[in-house]
Amino acid sequence: MTAAWLVLVAILSANAVYAASVGENQSTMYDTIVVGMGASGTSAASTLAQAGRRVLVLEAQNRIGGRVCTVPFGDGVVELGAEWIHGQVPSTVYDLAIKNNVSVISQDISMDVFLSDGSKGDRALINDLVDFALQSCEDPPKEPQPLGQCITNRLMDYIRVHHPDLLKDQDFLTELLAFLDLVIDNYEATTSWNDITTESKYRELDGDQHISWHKNGYKTLFEILLNTYNNGPGLPTLEYKLNKEVTQINWSEDPSKKVVVTCKDGSSYTADNVIVTVSIGVLKERHATMFSPMLPHWKTKSIDTISMGLMDKILLLFPYSWWPKSSTFFAFVWRRSEKKKIEERDRWVTQIFGVSTPLGSDRAMTVWTSGDAAKTIETLPEDVVKRKTMELLRRFMGANVTVPEPVEMIRSSWYTNPYTRGSYTYDHIDSPLHPNARADLAQPITDSAGVPRILFAGEATEATHFSTVHGAVDSGRREAARLLPKSDVCNCPFL
Ligand SMILES: Cc1cc2nc3c(=O)[nH]c(=O)nc-3n(C[C@H](O)[C@H](O)[C@H](O)COP(=O)(O)OP(=O)(O)OC[C@H]3O[C@@H](n4cnc5c(N)ncnc54)[C@H](O)[C@@H]3O)c2cc1C
Ligand SMILES: *[C@@H]1O[C@H](CO)[C@@H](O)[C@H](O)[C@H]1NC(C)=O
Ligand SMILES: *[C@@H]1O[C@H](CO)[C@@H](O)[C@H](O)[C@H]1NC(C)=O
Ligand SMILES: *[C@@H]1O[C@H](CO)[C@@H](O)[C@H](O)[C@H]1NC(C)=O
Ligand SMILES: *[C@@H]1O[C@H](CO)[C@@H](O)[C@H](O)[C@H]1NC(C)=O
Repeated sequence: MTAAWLVLVAILSANAVYAASVGENQSTMYDTIVVGMGASGTSAASTLAQAGRRVLVLEAQNRIGGRVCTVPFGDGVVELGAEWIHGQVPSTVYDLAIKNNVSVISQDISMDVFLSDGSKGDRALINDLVDFALQSCEDPPKEPQPLGQCITNRLMDYIRVHHPDLLKDQDFLTELLAFLDLVIDNYEATTSWNDITTESKYRELDGDQHISWHKNGYKTLFEILLNTYNNGPGLPTLEYKLNKEVTQINWSEDPSKKVVVTCKDGSSYTADNVIVTVSIGVLKERHATMFSPMLPHWKTKSIDTISMGLMDKILLLFPYSWWPKSSTFFAFVWRRSEKKKIEERDRWVTQIFGVSTPLGSDRAMTVWTSGDAAKTIETLPEDVVKRKTMELLRRFMGANVTVPEPVEMIRSSWYTNPYTRGSYTYDHIDSPLHPNARADLAQPITDSAGVPRILFAGEATEATHFSTVHGAVDSGRREAARLLPKSDVCNCPFL
């Protein structure tokens, strides 16, 4: 071999090394980085990857799903986060389940009624009043009102016409209103139904509102989105990393600059743009340090304005199912005198509207909590929560049946969780003062050429479908579509 050859080989191998490391660095060059791998982040990444974009998803927790969290429990699974597909038409989530031949089951949420004195309540009456209360203010009054006020007024009119005999029992009416308040709070993740405005822009989809993934678990949605369901091969241009807490997003108005995303472990990644999908709870806490330069005022105002609610579940696993099979929901209505005694010591115990049995596990029971009560429960030790929850169950349901000790208990803590800081958003009584808050949250930050660089997805960005998985999935698609030419927004097989 000549000296010239040796030099050439040396240059080539140096180049090879160089190429390899450039290659490596190039492989860390992405079109888009998605922060968060919940429903919105996964749907955004899936849409982009199906259009051939190189996407990196960075997720702080050690699992995919965010506020969807399916966990094995007993002989099946339970959901610590989202449980149902709320509505069918038009629902991306429902369609994905059906298209992929995943069986989903409609759950009847009508309730058996138990009173705090150990007797059974009037099932037909209570369900009639709950149904009325839930839809009574869908056609809102002209001037915005606290929702509870509106429901109370219209319900009293309804009772005067349809159940006039109830008007004699003032105690019952008080107990009924307190119970209905808790039912609404549980839907809305609030402390009081008077925190919610009648002007809420939330709209239900048509069709069944409580469709369960039962033993499949809501996690199946993520397998479908990532094309790994039924041993699918995944998406070649989609890469994701778990345990990657994003601490800073550096961006510039200069169109020639990339966006740099830095993680807590010191690693950083570069892309043309980034889609931020962290919850509004996380944004409230971190936006001032997370973005460099800081977000503009119109954006931080929307973050400050939108209200994050809290709803938590306590899940109990029993050695056998001891409850009546007539329902999967059991309402607890406190008698005033009994409630008073407990309220002084353990207010949270009186703020639980009832329990249900999830369709994913045959021996499990869900205890529902929301608002300040849920926040309190998150701070309490396991044994206290378990003991008082069992006292509650035995008081309401145990008069004529032995309620066995649970063999296991798990619970959610969506407020304590630094990566959620709450469960989902609601339209607060002040929200009519800020009618564009959700639209502003959804608006991207652009560079000086008007090109979107920091985009925002997540349930809170949806004007009418916030607080749901279908809203989150749609928001991810919405932001992906913003980055794709119209022709590239695929008619995707798994989206
Ligand atoms: C208890 C409960 C019950 C619910 N029930 C239902 C239901 O029955 N039906 C329904 O439709 N909806 C329900 N919801 C609402 C639904 O779960 C949410 O609207 C939806 O899952 C939100 O998805 P998302 O992508 O917007 O946010 P998330 O799921 O919160 O995704 C954001 C992701 O970002 C990650 N993250 C946060 N900070 C960082 C960081 N610094 N760096 C990197 N990653 C980060 C988080 O870990 C998370 O994975 C429920 C929610 C809760 C909590
Ligand atoms: C690749 O990137 C890493 C980290 O940014 C850097 O340390 C390294 O020098 C780069 N390699 C080359 C060949 O540029
Ligand atoms: C759908 O699932 C059922 C059983 O769950 C199975 O019998 C059927 O073959 C499946 N169809 C398709 C198209 O996969
Ligand atoms: C228990 O039985 C008594 C007597 O039959 C009845 O009045 C009461 O409503 C029952 N309670 C429950 C929770 O079933
Ligand atoms: C991001 O911006 C901050 C504050 O301006 C700066 O300290 C940091 O070095 C920047 N990080 C990157 C990766 O450019």
